[in-house]
Formats: sequence, C-alpha cells, structure tokens
Amino acid sequence: MKMDLDSLTPKQIVEQLDKYIVGQNKAKKAVAIALRNRTRRQRLSEEMRDEVAPKNIIMIGPTGVGKTEIARRLSRLCKAPFVKVEATKYTEVGYVGRDVESMIRDLVSGAVSMVKTELQEQVREEAQRRAEETLLDLLLPGVGKAPAAARGAIPQVQPGPEQPAPVSSTREKFREKLRSGELEDKTVEVNVTSSQFPAIEIFSGTGLEEMDVNIGNLGNIFGGRKKRKKTTVARARDILLAEEMDKLIDMERVTEQAVNRVEQMGIVFIDEMDKIASRQNVSGVDVSREGVQRDILPIVEGSKVHTRYGIVDTSHILFIAAGAFHMSKPSDLIPELQGRFPLRVELQALTSEDFVKILTQPRNALIKQYEELLRTEGVELVFDDQAIRRIAEIANEVNSRTENIGARRLHTIMESLLEEVSFNATDIEGQTVNITEKYVDDRLKDIVEDQDLSRFIL
Ligand SMILES: Nc1ncnc2c1ncn2[C@@H]1O[C@H](COP(=O)(O)OP(=O)(O)OP(=O)(O)O)[C@@H](O)[C@H]1O
Ligand SMILES: [Mg+2]
Repeated sequence: MKMDLDSLTPKQIVEQLDKYIVGQNKAKKAVAIALRNRTRRQRLSEEMRDEVAPKNIIMIGPTGVGKTEIARRLSRLCKAPFVKVEATKYTEVGYVGRDVESMIRDLVSGAVSMVKTELQEQVREEAQRRAEETLLDLLLPGVGKAPAAARGAIPQVQPGPEQPAPVSSTREKFREKLRSGELEDKTVEVNVTSSQFPAIEIFSGTGLEEMDVNIGNLGNIFGGRKKRKKTTVARARDILLAEEMDKLIDMERVTEQAVNRVEQMGIVFIDEMDKIASRQNVSGVDVSREGVQRDILPIVEGSKVHTRYGIVDTSHILFIAAGAFHMSKPSDLIPELQGRFPLRVELQALTSEDFVKILTQPRNALIKQYEELLRTEGVELVFDDQAIRRIAEIANEVNSRTENIGARRLHTIMESLLEEVSFNATDIEGQTVNITEKYVDDRLKDIVEDQDLSRFIL
C-alpha cells in the first residue's frame, strides 16, 4: 500500500520500514528524516524553498544487510517517484555505456506511468461504460446503435409482427449477457492502435536515450495507425478499456504533473557507489571511475536534464547512495561529490539473533513464504523455535567461515533445507512436516561440516 508522504511522520516511516527490515535503525531514521525534510520544504515560502537543499545520504555497510531493501521499501511506501541504479553501469561520457542523465530520464518515465495510473483510476468507471457500449456495437453489427436511436437520429420504427424486437431491448439483453460473463469466449473484431504492439520496443533499447525526442515522434506516427484484430470478448474488453482510458486522460497534464513530482519529490538510489570511489590504483579503469563521479556531480548538485517529457531540474531530487566501502572509503570520492552527501549512516553486520527475526518477523519473511508455497500443495510446514534458531546459527557459521553475504545466506540455506520436501510435495499431500532442530541438523550438518561442500552449496 502506497501512502501519502505528506501525512507520514518520520516515526511512522520508520514503523512502516520496521515491518520489513530488521534492525538498522540509524539508516531507517536517516531516510525517514530526509523524506520528512522534503515535506517540510514544501511548506516553506517559495523564496526559502529554493535555498533548502536535500540532505543526501550515503548508506555504508557490508553486503546483504538491507541497504537496497530499505530503499526498495521506501519507494513502495510513499508516492515519490523512485529509481534505483547501479553506479557501475555508467561510464564516462564518450565511453561505451549509459550516460548518467539516463537515471533522471528513467525517473521521469516511472513518474509518468505512476501519475497516469492514478488518473486512469479516476476515469476508470467512465471508460468501462464506454468500452461496454463499443463491445455491444461489435457484438451487434448492423443492429442500429442505441445512442443514435436514443438521440432520435434514426426514426423509431413501430415493431410490427414480422419485425425484430426493438434495438434497445436486443441491446439490453446482450448487455445482461455480457455482464453475466456468458459472452466472454465469443470472438469479436476490434481496432487496435499499433502502439499496443510490442514492435515499438525495437526503438527504445538502452543507449538510445539521446534520441528520446525522435522516439516520441515515431510513437506519434505509429500511434494513429489502427489494425483490426480478431479476439475474444474478454480480451477485447481489456483492449477497449485501455484505449478509452487513454482517450479520457490528458497526457499533457500527466507529463506536467510527473515532471513536477520528480522535481519536488523524486528519489534516486545509487547503488554500488563504492565501486566508483577508489582512487588508489591509477589504471585506465579508475580514470573512468573518476569520470563517472564528475558526470554524476552536476546532476546531484542540481542541473537541468532534457527528457522526452520536458526539462527536469534536479536541484531538489533526493539522492541516496549505498555501498559496502570495503576497498574504498567515502573520503575517496572526489571532494565536491562528498560534500553533496552530507549524511553518512552505517548499517550493522547481522547477528544470528537478527537472522531469527529476519526468518520470522517481516511481512514477507522467508519462513512464511515457504509455508505458503507448500500449503498450495496441501503440505503443512511447522517450524519449531529451536529449528529456527539452529538455521540462524548455521547461517552465521557459514557466513563467518566462507564469504559473509549477510541475510542472503538464509535464502541458500532454506533452499537446501527444504529441497526434499519441495521435491516430494505432491507425494506427501495432506501431511504435516515438522521442522525440528534434529531435522535441520540431519539435512545440513554434513554440508556445513565439509568446508568445500558448504562453500559450494550454501
Ligand atoms: N535487516 C534486514 N531485515 C530483513 N531482511 C533483510 C535485512 N537485510 C537483508 N535482508 C534480506 O536480504 C536480502 C539482501 O538484502 P539487500 O539487497 O538489502 O542487501 P544490500 O545491503 O543491498 O547488499 P549489497 O551490498 O550486496 O547490495 C534481501 O532479500 C532482504 O530481504
Ligand atoms: Mg544492494
């Protein structure tokens, strides 16, 4: 459920994040405050508003402890346009790769679909009504159109003995059948606008962003073209509904709102920031890394980016960067960029206590997921507390003996643990499987004890 950002206090934002992310309170607090500051900024006088820069954040912490997860949840939580990018996918202007401005274009595209969906909801009812009329027209070709008859355009014919029932009553009968779902599989022929065909995708591959404007034009050329298509009533209804909704919303208003929302509320999450930070080596790669930082800088500082939806001012977009910063430190970033990320928060390595919570508490906790998945096959999984504790300990042990991949270890361990049950689920339908500490040990002990094996499997 998305919420209105305006009404969320920092405390409430943290509470929402708590439903999915265990611990990492400092990071949660920092993002909550940064978000709230922007709401506060909205309430300032225009003059003052321009002076307040967003407090960009760098999240520092080992792999698999929740950095990306916090950002992902944050985006779902609020209506702010959000985009997540990896710093490593950019290369300096002039090299092969995506140019950094594409992150802003992606943000705007996302915002456009977000605003469009919202407005579509507002016109859905009207669009449904219109789509139904069109469907009836298609189902009753030749039988005069009700609206026209109603308007009196066609002279009303008195129904004689050999004449068919009046148009309106046939139409109403069909309407009833349509609504009761009797006609779903019937075939009709609809006009489909070619923009609904995937062919257009050919033009929108990555690396072509600079051609944005041209792509827009191509869209218009194709947009008007119609193609007839035979399909079922069910599918036709979807097509017609989409078309009617498109007709009912004003795209200019959509883009205007979307650009505004990006400028005021947009969030860019730059992952893998540490990978472009190192200054130690002076190989060619690093020259390019510093180049990427120099390219990112103006966007973070505030500049105007051209997109196909108009010019976007990035001055008040919130940037959240993240990275493990094992090999490099935030101080290895070029100073100008460091200054633009004034907030540093460290995320903690996870303990086996945390793992127990991660396995059980979040809304989407792994154990809940497995229970639900197997329930679909009629198999009840029951984990006892000692078993969960044991799984957490094993995750911790394997992390400390091989690579520490944080909570991701839980995924691999759970997969190995439940492999047998998963595989045989159909044979044990209707049964309850108790996952006890012994079960965990029996399934995993050998793998954990054999270092090579655990490196390979877990
Ligand atoms: N604190 C946590 N609470 C709940 N789940 C977590 C937590 N940390 C990690 N996870 C789970 O572990 C997985 C990996 O976490 P995430 O993607 O946030 O790692 P990360 O910190 O971004 O690591 P990386 O530096 O490798 O990108 C996610 O599926 C997430 O659900
Ligand atoms: Mg990550």
